[in-house]
Amino acid sequence: MQEYILKAQNIVRTYREHSTHPVHALRGVSLTLRKGEFVAMMGRSGSGKSTFLHQLALLDIPTSGSLEIKGVDVLVLSERARARFRLDVLGYIFQDHALIPELTAYENIALPLMALGRTRRRYDADVRELIKRVGLEGKEKSLPAELSGGEKQRVSIARAIVNKPAILFADEPTASLDSAAARTVLEIMRELVDTYGQAIVMITHESEDKRYVDRVVYLKDGLLVDV
Ligand SMILES: Nc1ncnc2c1ncn2[C@@H]1O[C@H](COP(=O)(O)OP(=O)(O)OP(=O)(O)O)[C@@H](O)[C@H]1O
Ligand SMILES: [Mg+2]
Repeated sequence: MQEYILKAQNIVRTYREHSTHPVHALRGVSLTLRKGEFVAMMGRSGSGKSTFLHQLALLDIPTSGSLEIKGVDVLVLSERARARFRLDVLGYIFQDHALIPELTAYENIALPLMALGRTRRRYDADVRELIKRVGLEGKEKSLPAELSGGEKQRVSIARAIVNKPAILFADEPTASLDSAAARTVLEIMRELVDTYGQAIVMITHESEDKRYVDRVVYLKDGLLVDV
């Protein structure tokens, strides 16, 4: 069995769309992620962190490089197979929550399971258990507009892990939260790693988040650097 769950090699992403000059957002970045490893990614604004996370999470396709997740060469998959792989194996927490305003907290959380074609009868107990774990009991029927920032972020975390993804990606999940809410979010993520062996890659600007993670990597001008 491989000891790593993700292996990205020499990832290059050059944006040519919409810009007059090509933007070399990633210039050849390699990263190996072990099972149950919690990695923080740091670096200045514009260094390529979100771009790199998008490539790893299959939300975008690199200009060149290779990417293996759970032993699968994911870049050769068809678009359809890649979307299915993403639903089965990966979870993503967006900085701005990206919750659907018309859906309740419960429905937002259950969305990936609906997308996988599961019926509510099958997933209801699991979703309720998860709601308890992230401390959202009693808020099941609330719409996103009726939730605090910390609560919205917890809905977003629950949605990202409801399909029990092997890898969770989080783009500045604590950026818009006060320190108490941020601590809750980080503790939930640490618990996921320790209890379920989930691997996590989290972008953060907060130096104090480092104590929750196993390893910190730094991006500078589209390259991984030592500090
Ligand atoms: N869709 C796009 N088209 C063109 N250029 C882009 C696109 N997305 C990002 N860029 C550029 O790529 C570079 C890296 O952007 P990226 O969003 O990855 O940075 P970041 O490290 O996440 O920054 P921040 O900390 O501000 O979120 C920047 O120069 C940015 O302007
Ligand atoms: Mg970013």
